[in-house]
Amino acid sequence: MYKIAVFVSGRGSNLKAIINSIAQTEIKIEIVCVVSDKIECPAFEIAENYRIPTYSVSQNEGKDSVVYSELVSILKKMGTDLIVLAGFLKKIPDILIENFEKKIINIHPALLPSFGGKGMYGLNVHKAVFEKSAQVSGATVHFVDKIYDNGKIIAQECVDISDANSPEEIAEKVLKVEHSLLPKVIIKFSDNKVIEKNNRIYLL
Ligand code: GAR
Repeated sequence: MYKIAVFVSGRGSNLKAIINSIAQTEIKIEIVCVVSDKIECPAFEIAENYRIPTYSVSQNEGKDSVVYSELVSILKKMGTDLIVLAGFLKKIPDILIENFEKKIINIHPALLPSFGGKGMYGLNVHKAVFEKSAQVSGATVHFVDKIYDNGKIIAQECVDISDANSPEEIAEKVLKVEHSLLPKVIIKFSDNKVIEKNNRIYLL
């Protein structure tokens, strides 16, 4: 069984896409828990509907609240193979990165290394892409290191946005791509088909 933990901050549409995809694949993948920086969010409701344990790393006290050092122990005890940031909008603290080196991936709603970095999340990204009049955008899955949106790129998919009339339209187009790209990469990891060679990442 390949075990993943999914980190979320809000809506959880990527979480839902992951749940749906792994239910259809032959490889056995289990979501051991869903973690959020919020006490409550729609993504938690999705997790609860599927009886997936939830943990909150919010600074505010709440049900199932934990601090990051506790979370590291919990994730290790659960045998987590991969941490997936699926719309997790806070910076991941070093303690997590040091304990799960090359085992944390993130989906970013643009083509990195453009339109990334601090403050570049959610609609902010699509606004910047729109204002720059970029003609293509897309989604990027990359490794997470100690610097925002800096880790090596694992997979990308482009979308034509030449006819987009608003940042919201771009967001909608990119989200569709995210929903197929992120589960595809998770399945590749679970099947041992993500390798590093020539200082680059290859999907077999
Ligand atoms: C997604 O578009 C994801 O790429 C983005 O937040 C959204 C979450 O949607 N993540 C970032 O901007 C990270 N820098 P969801 O909660 O419906 O999956």
